[in-house]
Amino acid sequence: MSDPQHSVLLNTGSRMPLVGLGTYELRGLEDIMLTVDAALAAGYRHFDTAAVYSNEVEIGQALRELLPKHGLLRADIFVTSKLGPRDQGPMAPAACQQSLDQLGLEYIDLFLVHEPGTEGLRVEDPQNSANRAQSWTALEEFHSRGKFRAIGVSNYTVRHLEEVLASCKVPPAVLQVEFHPRLVQTELRALCAQRGVCFEAFSSLGSGALLSDPAVLEVAKGCGRTVAQVLLRWAVQQGIPVLPKSCNASRVRENGQLFDFELSQEDMDKLTGLDCGQRYDLDPTSVA
Ligand code: A2P
Repeated sequence: MSDPQHSVLLNTGSRMPLVGLGTYELRGLEDIMLTVDAALAAGYRHFDTAAVYSNEVEIGQALRELLPKHGLLRADIFVTSKLGPRDQGPMAPAACQQSLDQLGLEYIDLFLVHEPGTEGLRVEDPQNSANRAQSWTALEEFHSRGKFRAIGVSNYTVRHLEEVLASCKVPPAVLQVEFHPRLVQTELRALCAQRGVCFEAFSSLGSGALLSDPAVLEVAKGCGRTVAQVLLRWAVQQGIPVLPKSCNASRVRENGQLFDFELSQEDMDKLTGLDCGQRYDLDPTSVA
């Protein structure tokens, strides 16, 4: 998985590994050390955290302590973090610096605005849009100083993405959104492809709901792989980076084994045919 071929080229010229460890709900230094250790051993070179996950300090410490054990340098891994919704707008510059400090890193490979809304504002409040613009300016400034190697957005709809594309100095390198066979995000993917933004998936397992889908089970049985591997492979086979999150070392290993098998076109189409617009995570559609 650490093979450079298993990565995507961003509009910054840097490469981002196709598989990253999602770390939402991963807490406590002991568990984080075990999980990050298992991930590095399994070949993961991409780690995705966020200010709101409240684990930046422990993720940073785990990486600092474990990289030498695996014979790796900082430059061998790709770290993503995100600006929390309570820090949108005037608070953004201080929050950007805080993520760098908490992770204990000289630079972050990719830094995202976590969601279009601001905590404490009603979704229809136009201040949401003004705050997003101010946040983006802060990310651009950290990017220009080399502190954020790439910048992007998360949970943005077509409208939010078009807004930042129309007003930015530095275009987003990545859009990270919920993506799985029940939510194939056709319009957002087309916009990303057209504007050179890398489309990245979270919740590939539909927060676990897709693990018992009969059609996915059938595909898994047919190719002798686990349901989680089939769901993750369906995305990476389309060139879409995935961020499986697991607090369990053996599932971390399982989720990383995606490049030694291929789904047939028939199976790919069968999975894509499950689309029904179902979300298991936050719905950002109505945020002004
Ligand atoms: P756990 O941490 O106990 O492994 P999603 O990424 O769609 O939000 O799904 C994450 C959920 O799926 C987590 O609750 C995680 O639980 C579980 N999960 C992650 N990988 C696997 C796997 N390979 N098989 C079964 N469940 C998994």
